[in-house]
Amino acid sequence: MEERRVIRTMFIFRFLVLHASITCTFAADTLSANQAMVYNETIVSPQETFELGFFRPGKSMNLYLGIWYKKIPNRTVVWVANRNIPLKHTSFELTLIVEGVLIIRDATKGDAVWLSANSSTASVRNPIGQLLDTGNFIIHEGFNQEEPIWQSFDCMTNTLLPGMKVGRNMVTGIESHLTSWKSDDDPAYGEFSEWIDTRGYPQLIITEGGKIKFRGGPWNGLRFSGAPNLKLNPFFIITFVVNPTEIYYQCNLIDTSVITRLVLQSNGQVQRLLWIDNKQEWNPCNIDKTPICECLKGFEPTSPYQWKITDWSQGCRHTVPLDCNPGEGFNKYTNLKLPDTQGSWYNQTMTLVECDKMCKTNCSCTAYTTLNISGSGSGCLLWFGGLIDIRTFAEGGDSLYIRVSASELDSIENSRSSNAGRRVRVIVPIAFVVLGILVSLCLFYRFYMKKQQHGGTPGNECVHDPEYISGNEDLELPLFGLPTLVKATNNFSMDNKLGEGGFGPVYKGVLEDGQEVAVKRLAKTSTQGLCEFKNEVISISKLQHRNLVKLLGCCIERAEKMLIYEYLPNKSLDSFIFDKTRSELLDWTARYHIINGIARGLLYLHEDSRLRIIHRDLKVSNILLDQDMNPKISDFGTARSFGGIQIEANTNRVVGTYGYMAPEYAGDGTFSIKSDVYSFGVLVLEIVCGEKNRGFIHKEHSNNLIGHAWGLQNKGRSLELVAKCLGDSINVSQALRSIHIGLLCVQRHPEDRPAMTFVIQMLVSEGPLPSPKEPGFYIGKSMQDTTRSSSSYEAISNNELSITMLNGR
Ligand SMILES: *[C@@H]1O[C@H](CO)[C@@H](O)[C@H](O)[C@H]1NC(C)=O
Ligand SMILES: *[C@@H]1O[C@H](CO)[C@@H](O)[C@H](O)[C@H]1NC(C)=O
Ligand SMILES: *[C@@H]1O[C@H](CO)[C@@H](O)[C@H](O)[C@H]1NC(C)=O
Ligand SMILES: *[C@@H]1O[C@H](CO)[C@@H](O)[C@H](O)[C@H]1NC(C)=O
Ligand SMILES: *[C@@H]1O[C@H](CO)[C@@H](O)[C@H](O)[C@H]1NC(C)=O
Ligand SMILES: *[C@@H]1O[C@H](CO)[C@@H](O)[C@H](O)[C@H]1NC(C)=O
Repeated sequence: MEERRVIRTMFIFRFLVLHASITCTFAADTLSANQAMVYNETIVSPQETFELGFFRPGKSMNLYLGIWYKKIPNRTVVWVANRNIPLKHTSFELTLIVEGVLIIRDATKGDAVWLSANSSTASVRNPIGQLLDTGNFIIHEGFNQEEPIWQSFDCMTNTLLPGMKVGRNMVTGIESHLTSWKSDDDPAYGEFSEWIDTRGYPQLIITEGGKIKFRGGPWNGLRFSGAPNLKLNPFFIITFVVNPTEIYYQCNLIDTSVITRLVLQSNGQVQRLLWIDNKQEWNPCNIDKTPICECLKGFEPTSPYQWKITDWSQGCRHTVPLDCNPGEGFNKYTNLKLPDTQGSWYNQTMTLVECDKMCKTNCSCTAYTTLNISGSGSGCLLWFGGLIDIRTFAEGGDSLYIRVSASELDSIENSRSSNAGRRVRVIVPIAFVVLGILVSLCLFYRFYMKKQQHGGTPGNECVHDPEYISGNEDLELPLFGLPTLVKATNNFSMDNKLGEGGFGPVYKGVLEDGQEVAVKRLAKTSTQGLCEFKNEVISISKLQHRNLVKLLGCCIERAEKMLIYEYLPNKSLDSFIFDKTRSELLDWTARYHIINGIARGLLYLHEDSRLRIIHRDLKVSNILLDQDMNPKISDFGTARSFGGIQIEANTNRVVGTYGYMAPEYAGDGTFSIKSDVYSFGVLVLEIVCGEKNRGFIHKEHSNNLIGHAWGLQNKGRSLELVAKCLGDSINVSQALRSIHIGLLCVQRHPEDRPAMTFVIQMLVSEGPLPSPKEPGFYIGKSMQDTTRSSSSYEAISNNELSITMLNGR
């Protein structure tokens, strides 16, 4: 067995002092043991392709040891030794010590500042350092170049040269990857890295600060799935090797006179550059500017609304959900970038037929394809669950067999291309070039599988009462029979009562199949006509957003009108934030998540062009929480919907809750989406502060919460407002920002309040915010006692904070 020992820095140091003065001349391309190379000397490869020496990057005054192209006038550095250790003066020198380790040391003091390895084999004899024409600096014994002791190609920086291997050695566990420079002037480790991700079938990924930023996709035998044009390249070929000892990819030149490099730029872009000798410049490949993201045939956007506003994070789902029916099969989709292979399974010898069979027998297998399309094709790659980040190419790309329900199955021989389906175009903001061939991306192009996403969706699940409101093709809203609901709610017993909204009491019910629902029994006094009610309910049931409570159906029988909603076990937000013990369950992250969720739900209500809704009674008790503490706005069903253009309306019926009502609404009955923004502002302040706006009394003044928040904001003391229970969990900048946004939303004049789109932008960004003016309803107390001469009260609810006013005209 080979004897290994660790050379300690001290040892090297002492050793060097002994040999420091031995400086001989060296052959131009080599550095032999104990030779020292000073800052203004260089080593040049035999054909004068590359040069190794000290250099100053960009405008920096620091020195680094690096390798660059000898013949390219504008110095193009391809490798840096001491990336994170800038040398501040010129008295450093490079030496190869007898143990076969390269070191950079301060010649005046003798300190070693950088070492190529911390350990070495004791048996090294006559090590020689040599710069090859590939740009690789190797240390080998004698003339055994084939098995270097060390090579710069193993320690990549931001440049992939032909012959370098990106990947992992399964025996040593050593992983080689590219890491960007901090900036053009600083070769220190930057944010971006390019790796071969070996969790699942190996795929190329780019990470930013450890998070996956881009997926080049798995290797299909010829190229990375995300870069279909690669095969057209006349200059170099890519080799991808997966075997028990090594997983790597490598680029090799076909024509060795070509000078090309792949760089991971400090902004995360990957560029393949070619040296154009007669122009004396590097020529980059162009970036494709208009990628197309679309749902494949048989799929639809999970959230059409978000899809429309170019937020495709929810991805696509099956038009007909899967239920593991034996009739299910696979449709072939072509010209794709294959989905994320994390969590996938593969076998390199199975055939496509075996692959199909294997996938079919496992209901959680959602797609399969040939692993290696080279030759006649071999191997099997299976996906389980979501298929993430698929992209369609006009041509090129891979085939994928995706599980679909029997009714969606294409006829036996599939001649259609996958592009036949519905197209949704989105412009994708980030684009990277991979391997010089441009690939742009649609991240998280996701198929949500199965029922989780479809729970309660109108479809074959409407078993309760198979009678539907008809006349609307794309919607079948279940109509529940009165007896069903009487039974479910135990005859609307007090024990089942969950609370009381502006329009009537809400009961918990359990349907015969065990499904829990919330039944809202509308006050009988409502004068709305049956037909009107039906139409409104149908349109409301079309509103689907993860931050809105889902309407499951309705009941219209005799004088009764009821709405049946999904039941949310965690009840409403006020049961948490205004409760001393339960409020501790909501840490800052949860609260911030809730604020963001409410904002998104409200944006959806306001801006969905088909049916713009003003909620009119947004308050903490109307925010329900699901089991994962996702907020869902409730009670929007009875809000007023209005046509697309009209954004302001006047009502003779003021519905709302003091403390949340905008001044113009409470005063004149004028409401607009901006009145909801006001209520949202109050909500935000309450969520951050853990105090009710109305009912908030400060010992030093008679302001309500808004007034108090405004006062503190002006004194720069907003943090005092934050609930004490948040303790360490608080993110100070988010909390201050939320208070600031809350104050912007409660401005006195509607036109001073931001629209919800802007609110969301402000919540997610970190830029400067406009300054709030003095808010409306500065003094809460007087409002509490206001009665308006022309109004008469009706239906004072059990919740002391909620009153519904009817304004007779
Ligand atoms: C390197 O610099 C030293 C002085 O700093 C000078 O004497 C020597 O000639 C220079 N060598 C080269 C190759 O320029
Ligand atoms: C040299 O390279 C720098 C940085 O890469 C670039 O800004 C500059 O324009 C180049 N100069 C020439 C003459 O190509
Ligand atoms: C040597 O060891 C130091 C400290 O453990 C470590 O930071 C450095 O990366 C190692 N260098 C090499 C080349 O292994
Ligand atoms: C792909 O298949 C070809 C031909 O059958 C084979 O030579 C190559 O090694 C395979 N590549 C991988 C990565 O399995
Ligand atoms: C791959 O599949 C073949 C044929 O079904 C089987 O013989 C082999 O054991 C499988 N290999 C692995 C690693 O599962
Ligand atoms: C289906 O595949 C998944 C993932 O490999 C596995 O966990 C599960 O046990 C399989 N189910 C059956 C029924 O084979």
